[in-house]
Amino acid sequence: MSKYRIGFFGCLAALLLPFYGLTASAQTADQAWLRYSGMNGRTFFPRDIRALGPGAVEQSAVQELKRSIADLGIGSGRLTGRVKAAFAGQTIVGTVQEVRKAYPELPVPNDLEPEGYWVYATGSADDKMLVFAGGDEPGVLYGVFAFLRRRFVPGDDSTRLNLHDHPLRSHPAMPIRWVDEWDNPDGSIERGYAGRSIFFEGGNVRADLAPVTEYGRLLASVGINGINVNNVNAAPQLLDSDHIKQLARVADALRPWGVHLAMSVAIASPQIIGGLKTYDPANPAVKAWWTAKANEIYSLIPDFAGFTVKADSEGQPGPASYGRTPADAANTLAAALAPHHGVVLYRAFVYNHHLDWRDPKADRARAAYDIFHPLDGKFASNVIVQIKEGPIDFQAQEPVSPLFAGLRRTNQAMELEVTQEYTGQQRHLVYLAPMWKQVLDFDLRAGGRATPVKEIIAGNTFHRPLGGMVAVAGVGRDAWLGSPPALANLYAFGRLAWNPNLTPAEIAAEWTRQTIGADATVVRTVGDMLMQSWPAYVNYTGPLGMQTLTDITGSHYGPNIESSERNGWGQWHRADHQGVGMDRTVATGTGFVGQYPPQVAQIYNSLATCPDDLLLFFHHVPYIYRLHSGQTVIQYIYDSHYAGAVQAAHLVDEWASLKGRIDPALYRDVLTRLEYQAGHAIVWRDAIVQYFLKLSGIPDAKGRAGHHPGRLEAEDAHLSGYKVLDITPWEDASRGKAVSCAQSSAKPACSAEWTYAGQPGRFNIAVQYFDLESGIARFTLKINGQPAASWSADALLPSRRPNGDNSTRYTVRDVALKPGDILSVTAIPDNDDPAALDYIEVTPAASIP
Ligand code: GCU
Repeated sequence: MSKYRIGFFGCLAALLLPFYGLTASAQTADQAWLRYSGMNGRTFFPRDIRALGPGAVEQSAVQELKRSIADLGIGSGRLTGRVKAAFAGQTIVGTVQEVRKAYPELPVPNDLEPEGYWVYATGSADDKMLVFAGGDEPGVLYGVFAFLRRRFVPGDDSTRLNLHDHPLRSHPAMPIRWVDEWDNPDGSIERGYAGRSIFFEGGNVRADLAPVTEYGRLLASVGINGINVNNVNAAPQLLDSDHIKQLARVADALRPWGVHLAMSVAIASPQIIGGLKTYDPANPAVKAWWTAKANEIYSLIPDFAGFTVKADSEGQPGPASYGRTPADAANTLAAALAPHHGVVLYRAFVYNHHLDWRDPKADRARAAYDIFHPLDGKFASNVIVQIKEGPIDFQAQEPVSPLFAGLRRTNQAMELEVTQEYTGQQRHLVYLAPMWKQVLDFDLRAGGRATPVKEIIAGNTFHRPLGGMVAVAGVGRDAWLGSPPALANLYAFGRLAWNPNLTPAEIAAEWTRQTIGADATVVRTVGDMLMQSWPAYVNYTGPLGMQTLTDITGSHYGPNIESSERNGWGQWHRADHQGVGMDRTVATGTGFVGQYPPQVAQIYNSLATCPDDLLLFFHHVPYIYRLHSGQTVIQYIYDSHYAGAVQAAHLVDEWASLKGRIDPALYRDVLTRLEYQAGHAIVWRDAIVQYFLKLSGIPDAKGRAGHHPGRLEAEDAHLSGYKVLDITPWEDASRGKAVSCAQSSAKPACSAEWTYAGQPGRFNIAVQYFDLESGIARFTLKINGQPAASWSADALLPSRRPNGDNSTRYTVRDVALKPGDILSVTAIPDNDDPAALDYIEVTPAASIP
């Protein structure tokens, strides 16, 4: 084999520690995974790079290749002959037609798919060439990004790509690969946890769209081709002529990256901003309004992707107001967009949120199927029904939506959330790819044959022309997703939408190499952490398919077990003194199970075959019911919550083991986040465990629930200034009580004091307090009057009252104590933050928190 055949690509591992862009002021893609400078992976390929065509996307491909080498910063004098040889020759990018025309002798495939790529190297020593050919322009760009991703493949010379004998070739599994941003014109973001909008501010599109261009780059690098920039709870004014002009600037910023702009539209727009008396989708004037609006949009944004619709859902107006169906509404919009090749993503998230909770047959989970299944075959060919992955609403654990099997003559897309609405809001590390992968691989057995969800949404199973995946992304101005590890979810979404057969572990390794470091220990450890994080979160929040036991009418963050009961929202788990779970069986329950194809329905319908992890989603059982694992339900609830908290603590240890191997700023940043998460996992654990202990009256066989050796309650302390407070919900504080400091100018501080009565030795002391957003209270832990630690309660956590959203743990490690020592917490409240305190906990320094 000639050395020229293999010499285009090389990877020099571990030249430098990765650079982590925490200090960068501009918001750029290299704050995520597109890092070329200072990284521990290098690419070597011919530096004479040119595009064969004039298109902007091809220019981006050239620019990206150049950027990857410009940032190398290697003085050519230090380059070896082999590397210099790798830089010689030329690099060509173009569509297959362009490449074939310019270089008829190259073996360009005849059947390259749309958006697909072929990356090839010629074998001639005299005329070396690296070729990026695309099935179309975006394909060229995707080929470049795929090639650049390979620079982190482990090893050095031994793993060089042999692009002559083994060209890279790939194409996306599904045509729709979109992100939805739920941004509002005022710059806020619904369910966003990363600051303000990169698109809007003060009612208008922002002047500075540089971050939008960078976002387009990021999206293109993982093959995402569409972006809906505004909230599905859509602001109608975005469809007025002025805003369409503004949005055209957003489309311009994204176009060079092959990312098409889409918009959420309010179905009542013809009335609200069009001045019509009606928005009935069957009314000719309404149809004409949508047609004119679509024409106006396309005159300014010729590559506009289409509309997303949330209607008849959570207060949004919809066709039901006129006795029309979702198909009637979708088809009116589809007809307006069709001449321009636009599409309608009509969301199946349509349900009644005023259900009667006393009715044992009422079930929100049924809604999507009940409404959309009868409409199968009635949607226009450019409509795609966008279905949330589970039948409820992005819970940490749900079964797959049965609607995927219920629509056979309708295009479908699966909607999931990158933004961690119910999964820790980016404050918790929760890598969601394993959950999505379970959904993608789930075999619904439609028609009694193998029909995995990934094949259905790709359009393969039912031979549909369109289909795909849409993720609610929630990026903002704070480092895209606010937390570095949260970006693994955005990365994984794109990679799975391109190829749902990738494994979450291999995606985790890819992301880690590009973002954190290519050192084998780093890749292994971070991969392990990512893979453990979702099971851990399910364990400490709500296992057995109970859903996330969070405050569902408020923050969606901390524990609030009863918030889902006795209201019309239908996220019930039906926990009472005897048992827990929703009976969704056909015979005695809501009948939801019957919406699945028979083979799946049979599995879920029977207690004998229903998998443990979804048991309480489908069945109501007594607490003493035995799982397949042999444990009782109540013991599993205890065990999983203790296990989950240990798993969260383990994430801290794993990360700590990487000290010195990764960028110090990144190390500290993530360590702080993980320590917070481990503390909040304890809040979750204790809330759920003490709630079910009280409700069931059944003790924990392992004696942990309700017993907290070393815990010293604030309400039992000698209090000065502090007053005892009942916490709501009660389970969010130890024994339901905390203390709160009523500030006065005469007495600005409060204190709680305990006398230590345990063994002498070295201990960790955890202080559990409530960190309210409305002020920055200050706390000091003292031992025998001497300060051991002081800190500010300055986190931004939800809720304005002390509860599980903001219950926070600060741990002072390895202090010496002996019986009779006086432990005290002194606190200074600030504004509306009363420096509320739950307890302190003294544990042996060597033990797990
Ligand atoms: C969830 C979320 C809402 C959102 C809705 C939707 O219920 O909490 O903020 O509007 O989903 O998907 O439309």
